[in-house]
Amino acid sequence: MADTRDEPLVLGIETSCDETGVGVVRGTTLLADAVASSVDEHARFGGVVPEVASRAHLEAMVPTIQRALKDAGVSAKDLDGIAVTAGPGLAGALLVGVSAAKAYAYALGKPLYGVNHLASHICVDQLEHGALPEPTMALLVSGGHSSLLLSTDITSDVRPLGATIDDAAGEAFDKIARVLNLGFPGGPVIDRYAREGDPDAIAFPRGLTGPRDPAYDFSFSGLKTSVARWIEAKRAAGEEVPVRDVAASFQEAVVDVLTRKAVRACKDEGVDHLMIGGGVAANTRLRAMAQERCERAGIRLRVPRPKLCTDNGAMVAALGAEMVARNRAASDLGLSADSSLPVTEPHVPGAHAHSHDHDHVHEVSKDNLYS
Ligand code: KG4
Ligand code: ZN
Repeated sequence: MADTRDEPLVLGIETSCDETGVGVVRGTTLLADAVASSVDEHARFGGVVPEVASRAHLEAMVPTIQRALKDAGVSAKDLDGIAVTAGPGLAGALLVGVSAAKAYAYALGKPLYGVNHLASHICVDQLEHGALPEPTMALLVSGGHSSLLLSTDITSDVRPLGATIDDAAGEAFDKIARVLNLGFPGGPVIDRYAREGDPDAIAFPRGLTGPRDPAYDFSFSGLKTSVARWIEAKRAAGEEVPVRDVAASFQEAVVDVLTRKAVRACKDEGVDHLMIGGGVAANTRLRAMAQERCERAGIRLRVPRPKLCTDNGAMVAALGAEMVARNRAASDLGLSADSSLPVTEPHVPGAHAHSHDHDHVHEVSKDNLYS
């Protein structure tokens, strides 16, 4: 085994949604992955409540950092850097992680790396399958995003080929679970019910798959409406809703479109492997169908274990370690949380280096920190 002592030791903090994640990695080796989730507190609202999430992050932050360091068996003073999700995500939730990361970086005198949540979902696979090939084709499917991305260097170059024009894949799972009264979050429970259902029972529509439709964009809102209408009609007729068959048929429609478009993108771009990341990549059927279709097309599939697909701190640490290894500029302490950080910016070098012209969320800017 290679000597890994020279590889960067990085702590990563993730608070973009309802998971307080803190991970520790050495290069591409996972040392700790501590997660505290507030998901149960949101369940009765049927979705993540931003203020509840922010408060839960605040309470969980320091204990989760301490647990991660203990699990990794390292001391904070040995770290080579602190990485944190700077965006995209819920503004108030991001702010808790960014503030904590700044405090630790400042107190310990360590470089700070504000990184992109989406690039982290891709980079995490280095902990599972080693260095990402370059270029990498990635299908990113989470609660907030569904995109096909091509990256030649995960620290500096992420190019979107296509994205959802309406709902994200995970959002569709969550909404259909709500219509079926299965609770929140919807992905895992639909996955479970679908295993006992017939995926061919109901022919639900495959969005944006016509010959004139954009090849790499996704749409799940038509599917969502179609499933909801189908269920309503059954209920109106006083018939029992076959929950397992609906779950399986809905899931099949989502997974069919995702894998079809991802394989097509690989072929069109001449990329011989595909990475799938984000919470929906934990889906059993997506993993199986992707494996099948990739094999048939001669494409190598890389999907991290389910726990590394859903939000976690290790993915942030993985991208931070890559930033250190590639000598990318650290962020300055004026780093802002940016709720709509574009996927094309894997990291945020600092307040002065912001270049994109969309609405920033400057909860903590260098100005109000030092003035
Ligand atoms: O990446 P993630 O943890 O958070 C975001 O960045 O959004 O993704 C959460 C999403 C939720 O919509 C959840 O329902 C979905 O991932 N999800 C799944 C599964 N596990 C989580 N969707 C389908 N099948 C699963 N097994
Ligand atoms: Zn995520």
